[in-house]
Order: sequence, then C-alpha cells, then structure tokens
Amino acid sequence: ATPAQTEINGKTYQTDSWFNVPTNIIDKVPRRLHLQKDHPVYITRQIIESVFPAPTYKYHNDYNPVVTTYQNFDSLGFAKDHPGRAKSDTYYVNHNTLLRTHTSAHQAETFRANLSDGYLISADVYRRDEIDRSHYPIFHQMEGAHSWDRTKVPNGDVAAAVWSDVEKLPKHSVEVRDPNPPFHRERNPLQADHHSAAEAEAIAAHLKRSLELMVVEIFTRAKAAAKRADPDYVDEPLQVRWVEAYFPFTSPSWELEVYYDGDWLECLGCGVVKQDLYINAGVPNQLGWAFGIGLDRIAMLLFKIPDIRLFWSQDERFLNQFKGISDNLDSLKRFAPFSKYPGCYRDVSFWLRSTSSAGGSTKANVHDFHENDVMEIVRSVAGDVVEDVKLFDEFTHPKTGRKSMSYRINYRSLERTFTAAEVNKIQSGVENALVRNLGIEIR
Ligand code: PHE
Repeated sequence: ATPAQTEINGKTYQTDSWFNVPTNIIDKVPRRLHLQKDHPVYITRQIIESVFPAPTYKYHNDYNPVVTTYQNFDSLGFAKDHPGRAKSDTYYVNHNTLLRTHTSAHQAETFRANLSDGYLISADVYRRDEIDRSHYPIFHQMEGAHSWDRTKVPNGDVAAAVWSDVEKLPKHSVEVRDPNPPFHRERNPLQADHHSAAEAEAIAAHLKRSLELMVVEIFTRAKAAAKRADPDYVDEPLQVRWVEAYFPFTSPSWELEVYYDGDWLECLGCGVVKQDLYINAGVPNQLGWAFGIGLDRIAMLLFKIPDIRLFWSQDERFLNQFKGISDNLDSLKRFAPFSKYPGCYRDVSFWLRSTSSAGGSTKANVHDFHENDVMEIVRSVAGDVVEDVKLFDEFTHPKTGRKSMSYRINYRSLERTFTAAEVNKIQSGVENALVRNLGIEIR
C-alpha cells in the first residue's frame, strides 16, 4: 500500500499510485557525496571545477533532488512517450514529481536566473537500473553550460566573439579525432532557424576545446596517481575522439570518448543548446553549449575503485584513504583495496504470474514484468551486500506457455565475511519479497 505522504530531506510530499521510491533510497538522499569533503566524488568535482573557473562559471551544488516531470523531461523537449519517463526506469514521488534522473533537470531554471556566463551544477541523480559493479541507483552528475548574449557582443557578431573566447582558452597537445562534419542534416542538424552555421561552429569549437581540457586534467591526474602507485605503469599517450550523439535538448550533439588503459570510454554528452530552452527560460538572446558528465565513473577510474558500492561505505578503511586530498589535489592516490571478503551466490528461479484466457490456454503475463523491479526488490531486502544480479536462464513452457526466469544473485559484503546461514536468510527474504511484490511463483 502507498503511504499518503513521504518525507524527503525533511520536506513532506503527497504521494499517489505512482509512488515507487523504496525506503533505502529515501534514506540515502541526504548523503550528497559530492559535498562530503575528501570523498572521491567530491574530489572529482573539485578537479573538474578547476577547469571551469569562477567568476565565468558559477557553481550550483545544492539544488533539491525532488523535481517536477516538467523540469526533468518537458522543459527539455522529451517526447510524452519517451522511455525514460516509465515507472520502471524512474523514481516517482507522485505522478508529476520525481527524483531527478539527470542534472539537466535544472538547465531551464539556471538559464532563467541568468547569473553568469557559465555554470556548473553538481548533484545526486536517481535511476532504476541493473545491479553490478558500475551501476548504483544513485549516482552523481555534473552539468556545465556556457552562454553568450547576442545583444552584448561587439557589433552583434556572435561568431567573432566566441572565437575570440576560444583563443583565450589554454592549448593542449592531445591527439583529437573529430571525423564527422560539423552538422548532419538528419542526424545532427544545425538549428538553422536560430543560428548561422558560423555561430554554431564557433560554439562547437569552444565546447570541444573546453571539454578536451577537462579530460586532459582528469586523465593527467589519473595517470600520475597510477604511476605513484606503480612505478612500472606504462603510460600510453592520451587519445580522445568525438562521436555524433542525440539528446532532445541539444543540436548538434556529441559524445567524447577517451582511450585509457586499453579501452575507449564514453565520458560525457554535450551539444549546442536548443534555442527553445533559452526562449522558454525568458532569455531568448542567449545562445551556447551544455554538457553532462557522470562523476562516479570518473572517480572510479581516478582512484581505481573496483566497485561503485564503495562510495556509500562509511567504513573508515575506505574513507581514511582520501583524507587531505581535497586540500591538495596533487596528493591524489589510488585506492588500496582492503582484503576482499569471500562472496557467494544463490540462484532463484520463478514462473511469471499467469492469467487464464478464454480459450483455456494459460499465458505468461509478461506485460507487467520489468527486470528493474527484480533489481530493486533484491536491493531493498539485501542492501549493499549484493554485488550483482544476472539473468542466466529464461524459457517458456511449451505446454502451459508460462514463462520462467532464473537469476543468479552474487552476495559479497565489502566489510566482512558472511556465514552461509546469514546468506540463506537474506535469500529467503528476497524470495518472499519477490512473491509478495511481483506475484511470481518460485520454482
Ligand atoms: N543529461 C544528459 C544525460 O544524462 C547529458 C547531457 C547534458 C547531454 C547536457 C547534453 C547536454 O545523459
């Protein structure tokens, strides 16, 4: 049953049938790891902020995570049927209130406030998702933007003004691959009603150089830390490449990928801000760029942290390792794993709820089954002792038509060793909760 109201960060909200935020998530909302001094997420934020200095950029670090569907989706041009709006993917407080799924939820209000040429927003964001070492339902993003005002640039020449700002940016010597044309008519169009090609190209140049400088800063620090930990660390030259992307609120849009430790990593999304955002925010004369980056993945790589759950650990053996780094970023060092406790797994197999049809045949009712619900139930019973959950078998019974799913749940505490009896108890709690909440039948 849905409670009539819920309290998040000390504020009361009315709920309705859309409410789907479990207590273990609500309890973590006040943690705000990006504001916890010497936490790896905080340090990562500091490193990126150093590339986008005040007063050109103004920092916003405490926007409320509870936002409206208008802020999170509509103001950004998300279609009414966009999959991101589904209850299976997003935590709703009620039908028009949710836990933000990205920092872009604050673009419109920040443009409207018009406090500076640029801004950086850092915040906790929430998504219902799978469970593994790099996914956690709460993570942190940083959003940045830079705008120019048509009425304030010399002679109204935006392109010239932006290019002169590009000239003022530091240079770097990293190899950049940028094979795509500046625009693509269908995939990545110029907003021809609002910008000249020269304006959009100048904005793109400023955006790309700024973000390249950001990844140089991050990866130079990551490599220095890797070398301090291991003098034999082989340093390959940094390579970055730009690829076309799509976001409902930018055009053209790109992603930046970085070659690091043998892999191309997708780092961030960005683009030229859709002019409707500025128009709707009451600042129609502005134009510019925006980007968004996930801080937790970057922090994992800077500190070589093997499991995203560690960020939520209150264990001193974790937190003490980063003491003092906030005050001296050059002392950044890699995480030294404390002994890894043995893990173990339990499997659970179940039949999806079945409904009898008039013809007498029984069909698996797969329409209201979503894997994220399994993930969340496991998480809400077992908490952070779940390392990952994987579907390993799935079949439909040839006669009854019922569908069976089998999941393997890996349990491992980051802090101690569990006994088999303890794990069995957690597992039976998980099974009971699956039966109760999903109406499935354990096989
Ligand atoms: N909000 C986007 C995401 O979460 C990232 C983004 C931000 C893209 C700003 C473009 C501009 O994926």
